[in-house]
Amino acid sequence: MKALSLRELEATARSLLNPRIHDLFAGGSDDEVSLRANEDAFARLGLIPRVLRGRGEPRLDTDLLGCRVALPIVIAPTAFHRLAHPEGERATARAAAAAGAILTVSMASTTAIEELAQAGGPLWFQLYLQPDRGFTEALVRRVEAAGCKALVVTVDSPVFGRRERDLRNGFTDLPPGMCCENMRPLGPDGERGPARPIAFSPALTWEDVEWLRRTTSLPIALKGVLHPADAKRALESGVDALFVSNHGGRQLDTVPAPLELLPALADALGGRLPLLLDGGVRRGTDALKALALGARAVAIGRPVLWGLAVGGEAGVAHVLALLRSELERALTLCGCGSADDAGPELLHLSRLEQ
Ligand code: FNR
Repeated sequence: MKALSLRELEATARSLLNPRIHDLFAGGSDDEVSLRANEDAFARLGLIPRVLRGRGEPRLDTDLLGCRVALPIVIAPTAFHRLAHPEGERATARAAAAAGAILTVSMASTTAIEELAQAGGPLWFQLYLQPDRGFTEALVRRVEAAGCKALVVTVDSPVFGRRERDLRNGFTDLPPGMCCENMRPLGPDGERGPARPIAFSPALTWEDVEWLRRTTSLPIALKGVLHPADAKRALESGVDALFVSNHGGRQLDTVPAPLELLPALADALGGRLPLLLDGGVRRGTDALKALALGARAVAIGRPVLWGLAVGGEAGVAHVLALLRSELERALTLCGCGSADDAGPELLHLSRLEQ
């Protein structure tokens, strides 16, 4: 794999993908203000290295929701990997397992969770709580049985964001032969029924999260909590982590970059819940900035799709290897022996607020 950076990989993916699929992956909602803000925030925040600290080679391994992982970089849930590559999520799962990274399987995965479990790596499962609790519960049992290690419940989608690129391109549905495999209810003999559409519901409340908490003993992370008051409310609901995320700029537009919101959320929680951050992470230095601001890990969405489009499993492996080596180098250049050494003292914070 030749790409020297995720940006190079993105350019290659763009040249290879059908333009409608590229837009589906790349696009954001409305004017794409949040989409642009996500990457901009990282560029605006400078790093101020510490020198001569003699910390040696940095260690990247860490614990995330009870999983020992090789690096603090998680694969965020993204839909429809088979649109990027014929092997779809299977290729992603194999690359993640080989790198010791967590794959968060999207509820809109085009491959069944049981097949992804065969790759042997740690899997989390992303859930949109369905108004039909019976269906949600059956799905939770299914992902538990498949060996998933945590649930990531996306709460920023009471309605689907308006993605004008897709409207313009007329992208409405998956091609024949592809569907959201985990939305096919399993019959008594394991046979799969027809796929149900994923429901987005504005009627959901904290009570629904508390119901889920009572329904499963798996760790639960809420994805898309951005307001400090909601972060505090999340503590009471018994969840185990938060993903600070604006859904890659695909839901409410003009939401600030998660990186900018992270300090206030970390303050509100005072270390009581681990925070993961996604949106615009394209470099090891980006990951380091989020870790220095208090994130336990970062997650990446689109880069995995670019990797898949360019090289299937090898492409995703390349994405993870690039970020891993960039993060190691950034930590070393900042005088850090691990993410624990990285704090806000490394950041030129006044720039983030401009
Ligand atoms: C997403 N994202 C997403 N999130 C989620 O909770 N469930 C999903 O099914 C999807 N699907 C999805 C598809 C595509 C094509 C994209 C680009 C994104 C959001 C994703 O988990 C994550 O929050 C962002 O992608 C992170 O931003 P970056 O890394 O793409 O900038």
